[in-house]
Amino acid sequence: MTEMAIMKKLEGKVAIITGGASGIGEETARLFADHGARAVVIADIQDELGQRVAESIGPKCTYVHCDVTDEDQVKDIVESTVRIHGQLDIMFSNAGIISPSDQLILDLDFSQFDRLFAINVRGLAACVKQAARAMVERRVRGSIVCTASVAGRKGGRRRTDYHMSKHAVIGLVRSASRQLGEHGIRVNSVSPYAVATPMMCKAHEKEAEEVEKTYEPFTSLQGIVLKVKHVADAVLFLASDDAAFISGHDLVVDGGFTS
Ligand SMILES: NC(=O)c1ccc[n+]([C@@H]2O[C@H](COP(=O)([O-])OP(=O)(O)OC[C@H]3O[C@@H](n4cnc5c(N)ncnc54)[C@H](O)[C@@H]3O)[C@@H](O)[C@H]2O)c1
Repeated sequence: MTEMAIMKKLEGKVAIITGGASGIGEETARLFADHGARAVVIADIQDELGQRVAESIGPKCTYVHCDVTDEDQVKDIVESTVRIHGQLDIMFSNAGIISPSDQLILDLDFSQFDRLFAINVRGLAACVKQAARAMVERRVRGSIVCTASVAGRKGGRRRTDYHMSKHAVIGLVRSASRQLGEHGIRVNSVSPYAVATPMMCKAHEKEAEEVEKTYEPFTSLQGIVLKVKHVADAVLFLASDDAAFISGHDLVVDGGFTS
């Protein structure tokens, strides 16, 4: 066995990654494929980009259009994955957005609020539900990882709806882990600090480097900038057997920001 084969952590596993066309999800799709996953299914609404990302990863990666706000579409992608690949071992429920305005409590816009909750909370829960059903049905001791945020660990001076939604994600992970433990299914989350993905660059109307400079001073850890790879590494850890006894945990990837 080569050194790389020994290091592979997801040999033979089948994974779905929502929001896998961009940012954290895209990087995680690449890492899962590198770590021997048998199939990586990207679920997103950016069809052209998603197709391109899947093609660049190779034949074991496929793109499927799936809007997580529609539970039927989530059910369909889980069912088609199981039908084509035999089972589902990993769900990375990661798709999320930021509202286009600051969403201060005094000016809270409820149409933006509802849209954000439909994706960040309801959509994320639909993915956990449908993945868990498929795992229970086939007696798969699977791993579900959700993307929360440091915004789920403290209040925000802006983006009230986003902070509320990420607190809800951590509540979902804690509850689902208690309910699914008897089936051997682990449920955890990652909570990244600010990372310069397309979502963040668009929200700030800045290039990646400027976004990184804006957030760099606020972490305890200095001399290192948070990149999507750091977040993907944390997701890989939680998805793999390295985290075999870890469930209900929120793993912050924040350079000490929330400590
Ligand atoms: N970037 C950060 O600083 C940061 C920090 C903490 C948490 N997060 C979280 O990380 C996750 C990924 O965000 P990112 O920063 O990689 O952003 P991103 O915009 O690069 O990626 C998010 C992806 O989700 C997809 N998506 C949006 N709505 C969808 C829907 N209804 N159905 C399916 N897919 C949908 C988008 O098309 C996009 O490809 C989000 O949950 C976000 O809240 C990001």
